[in-house]
Amino acid sequence: MNNRKKLKLAAIIEGTGWNHTAWQHPDMPADASENIDFYVKQARLAEDAKFESLFLIDVSHVGAGNFPHYLSMFEGVSIMSALAMKTERIGLAFTASSSYTDPYNIARQALSLDKISKGRASLNAITSNPGGMVNFSRGHLSRSDQYPMHREFLEILMHLWDTYEDDAFIRDKENGIFLNPEKMHLTNYSGKYFSVEGPLNLSRSVQGRPVLYTAGTSSTFVDIATTYTDGAFIGGFTKEAVEVTSNALRHKLEEKNRDPYNFIIATSQNPIVGRTEAEAHKKYLELVQLNPYQRIPPPLFFGSAEQIADDIQEWYEEGIMDMLMIKQDHPHGLRDFIELVVPILQEREIFHTDYEEQTLRGNLELPNPSFRKI
Ligand SMILES: Cc1cc2nc3c(=O)[nH]c(=O)nc-3n(C[C@H](O)[C@H](O)[C@H](O)COP(=O)(O)O)c2cc1C
Repeated sequence: MNNRKKLKLAAIIEGTGWNHTAWQHPDMPADASENIDFYVKQARLAEDAKFESLFLIDVSHVGAGNFPHYLSMFEGVSIMSALAMKTERIGLAFTASSSYTDPYNIARQALSLDKISKGRASLNAITSNPGGMVNFSRGHLSRSDQYPMHREFLEILMHLWDTYEDDAFIRDKENGIFLNPEKMHLTNYSGKYFSVEGPLNLSRSVQGRPVLYTAGTSSTFVDIATTYTDGAFIGGFTKEAVEVTSNALRHKLEEKNRDPYNFIIATSQNPIVGRTEAEAHKKYLELVQLNPYQRIPPPLFFGSAEQIADDIQEWYEEGIMDMLMIKQDHPHGLRDFIELVVPILQEREIFHTDYEEQTLRGNLELPNPSFRKI
């Protein structure tokens, strides 16, 4: 564990959340998922607490039975661009599906967000549920196409983000030299799913490239993540389940001669925390009682602040996660976690007390990738 970083925290700040009932809570704006003031408030809470990143999950196929959040929610790049102007230091991660978007558009949007935020952008590029086929004119594709497409997509992203070498733009007004054309590189990619010539029309990021994650569970996901991305978003309903994927990722990184701790393994939890265990229980009941017909499973991180800090410390020290992403079920979930748990993590020197760097990559303790000539 030589290169072990401090624990990283991210806030999944999405609206009414991942359950059917929280929107009915008196303290939750019922329109939170498309309410800019709500997002700004959550983003500032997380930034004041020195979280490394904000994070948005996304959905490509919506149906009447979905969570209220899915039925009326912001598009990721739009909301992150707005939040870029309301925050200074925190990272801005959005999710986009390689199954339903074109790599040229996403490369351009992510790098634009990176410029707007001065090096704080991050993309979680995922394959997504096959249900989305109905919305994106790709009905001829099947689930088995998703990972081969994903590989092509990520390969193209890396090429496009490295269109220009770091010093390609001279912008010398006196001599009329804008660009050194030798430092501009075409992508010239022709694959089964995508064909992209390039160039992309944005200079290279101050953090080298936007921070790239992917999410999944399968061995193909593990292989792709460890080949292309800076981190992975993994799930699981138990500690053991998260640990299995986490171990698989670390082993694969070693196999590929990548430093297993120069990679961010992120997982999300929806803690319900109280000053005491009883207070946490009361908050949980507030939610459950809103609608007795909708089950809300008790969260894995549940109880007093000390209990939750102990769990987090254990997961972190065992190397199961590098970054914990906080989702909230209770309308004050993020605030409570910040007020009660974060100070304990700081006191134990697991989590930092201030931003160290200007870019997201810097704050994640990831080195800037060098330019990759094709
Ligand atoms: C932790 C985690 C987060 C995910 N987030 C999203 C998401 O935001 N939007 C989405 O459409 N799919 C999401 N997925 C689905 C994955 O992108 C992927 O399509 C799915 O897990 C199937 O791939 P697998 O067989 O490798 O697990 C997520 C999956 C996991 C495990």
